[in-house]
Amino acid sequence: MCGIVGYIGDKKAYPILIKGLSRLEYRGYDSAGIALLENGTNLNVYKRQGKVIDLTEFVDGHSTEGTVGIGHTRWATHGLPNDVNAHPHCSGDGSIALVHNGIIENYDILKKELIKRGHEFKSETDTEVLVHLIEDIKEKSGVSLVEAVRIALNEVHGAYAIVVVSTEDPDKIIAAKKSSPLVIGMGEDEYYLASDATPIVEYTKNVVYLEDEQIAIIDRKNGLRIISISNKEISPYVQELEMQLEELEKGGYEHFMLKEIYEQPRAIHDSFRGRLDAKSGRVSLGGIKDYEEQIAKADRIIIIACGTSWHAALVAEYYFEDLARIPVEVEYASEFRYRNPIINKNDVVIAISQSGETADTLAALKMAKEQGATLLGIVNVVGSTISRVTDAGSYTHAGPEIGVASTKAFTTQLVVLALMALAIGKRKGTIADKKFQLLLDELESLPEKIEELLKSDDYIRGVAEIYKDAQNALYLGRGTSYPIALEGALKLKEISYIHAEGYPAAEMKHGPIALIDENMPVFVVAAHGEHYEKVVSNIQEVKARKGKIIGIVSKGDTAVKDIADHIIEIPKSDEFIVPILATIPLQLISYHIAVMRGCNVDQPRNLAKSVTVE
Ligand code: M6R
Repeated sequence: MCGIVGYIGDKKAYPILIKGLSRLEYRGYDSAGIALLENGTNLNVYKRQGKVIDLTEFVDGHSTEGTVGIGHTRWATHGLPNDVNAHPHCSGDGSIALVHNGIIENYDILKKELIKRGHEFKSETDTEVLVHLIEDIKEKSGVSLVEAVRIALNEVHGAYAIVVVSTEDPDKIIAAKKSSPLVIGMGEDEYYLASDATPIVEYTKNVVYLEDEQIAIIDRKNGLRIISISNKEISPYVQELEMQLEELEKGGYEHFMLKEIYEQPRAIHDSFRGRLDAKSGRVSLGGIKDYEEQIAKADRIIIIACGTSWHAALVAEYYFEDLARIPVEVEYASEFRYRNPIINKNDVVIAISQSGETADTLAALKMAKEQGATLLGIVNVVGSTISRVTDAGSYTHAGPEIGVASTKAFTTQLVVLALMALAIGKRKGTIADKKFQLLLDELESLPEKIEELLKSDDYIRGVAEIYKDAQNALYLGRGTSYPIALEGALKLKEISYIHAEGYPAAEMKHGPIALIDENMPVFVVAAHGEHYEKVVSNIQEVKARKGKIIGIVSKGDTAVKDIADHIIEIPKSDEFIVPILATIPLQLISYHIAVMRGCNVDQPRNLAKSVTVE
C-alpha cells in the first residue's frame, strides 16, 4: 500500500505532488506528507495525519517553493497513523528525506545497530531505519548519496519503492524498487515519479517501469540513468501509456464507485472487443493464443487471487470445469504460498488481480514459477508487476478503477474468464456447438442487458433505504451464484461496515439459519436455472423464520415474487452469465446503503485499493 510521488524539473513541485497524491490516495489515506527542496538548500518537510486535503490545509501559509520534491500517502503498517509516523522520514541531520512504499522486514535489527551508533529515531516506522542507514553509510564511508542508497538497499530485506532527495545533491532524485511498483514519467527536461501512472498521465505518456532491484538516478542536467543494486548499468526501456486523463475523473458522478458501476456496459464491451465475434462463432484471446494448447492439456488449473478477484476465481472454477473439463483449484494467494503446495510442470497457474500488484498474489506466482508451472495473468492495470512476471495473459480492459470497492474490475474478470474457458472448451471439443454459440451470444448481449438493468437504480435505491439500518445481512446463492453471494456480502461490509456473510444457500441449514429472525435481511440470488427450485425452497426456509427476503430474480419470475419481501429483476440469461448480471444490483444496494449511512464510499476505513503488503 501507500502511494509515493516525486518531481524534478522547471515547474513548481508542490501542486504536482499534491495532485499526484490525490490520484494515489486510493492506495492509502491515513496520513500524507511532502518534502520540498527550496533553493536547493532548505528541505521543507510537511506531514499530517489524515487525508491529502488535511495536508494542504496544514501547509497553507508555509513556503511551497521548490522544483524538486517527494510525497507520500500512507496506509499504516508499522506504527499508528499519526503526524510523526507519516512520511517523508528524514536523516538525523535533516539533509536527506525519503518516502517509502513496502516493508523493511529486518528493520528491527538494523534499528538496534543504528541506535548503538548514536542515531535517534522519531517514529515507529520501518522506513525511518532506511533513511538513517543511508546517512550512516554516507558518514562512515564518505560515499556519494547514490552509492549510499545502493549499499543500504543491499542490506535491507523486504519490499520497497523509495524516492530520496537531499540538500547535498539538490539537483538529483534517487528512486529504487523491489516488489513495490514505481513508474517514471519522462517529460521535456522534467521527470515524474509515482507508484502508478495515474499522477503522470496528464503530463507525459512516456514512462519507464522500474524493475526489481533497480535504482533510478535522475539528474536535472544529465537526465535518467538506471543501475542495478549490484551496480550494473541498465538501459531504460521507455513505453507509451494508453491511459486517458478523463478515465481518472469522476465525470459528474458523486463517487468513483458509482461511476465505475455505470461504466460496466462500456468496460465489458472493451473486455471482449476484438476477442469475441458471436456472428462468426469465434472467440480468441490474443494474449494466450500461444499457450492454448498447453492450457487444454493441463492436468490442473490453479487459480490464485485475493478478495473480489478470488470470488471471480470461484466463478471461473465452474466455467473451466464445465466448459473445458479441466480440474480447477481455487486458492487464496495468502494461504497457498505458505502451504508448501504440490505444483507440477503440467499445472497452469492463473493469477487474477485488478491492480496486478497484490503482494500475496505476486509471491504465490513466484513460488509457482520456481516449481515449473505455466503462469497466466488476468489483470486490469496495464504494465503492472503481475502482467510482467506471468508467461502470458489477458488484460481485462476495465479502465482505471479508483473506488476501493472493486466493481467493473470484477465483472470484466468474469467476462475474460468465460472467454478463456470457451476458447479452451472449443479447442478440446468439450462444449457442444449449440451451447458454445448460446454463450457467445449471451456474452455479446451483456452491455445492452446491463444498460437495461441500470435503469432499475432508483428502485434499487428504494430497497436500500429499507435496509440501511440493518446490523447484519446474509447473502445466499447456489452454483455460479454462490460466489456472487460472497461478493455481495464483501461489497456491503467493506463500504457500509454492516456485518454481512455470504453462504451457499444449501449450507444455511447447517448453521447460519440460527441467525435468522425478523431483523435479518437475506439477499438471495435466485435467477432461473438448474438450481432454481432448490433455491426457492431455501427462501421458504428463511421465510418460515421471519427473515426478510430480497430476491435477485430473472425477469418475469413469479415463484420468488410471491414469497419475497422485495425482488430485483435481472434480464433472463444462461446460468453462466447470471453471475455477471446479478452482481450489479448487489453493487448498487451496497453503494446506496453506504451513502445513506454517511460512509466514505470511495475510501472506506482501514482499506486501500492495492494491497502491496503481505
Ligand atoms: O488488485 P487485486 O484484484 O489483486 O486486489 C485484491 C483485493 O485486495 C481486492 O479485490 C479487495 O478485496 C477489494 N477491496 C474488494 O472490493
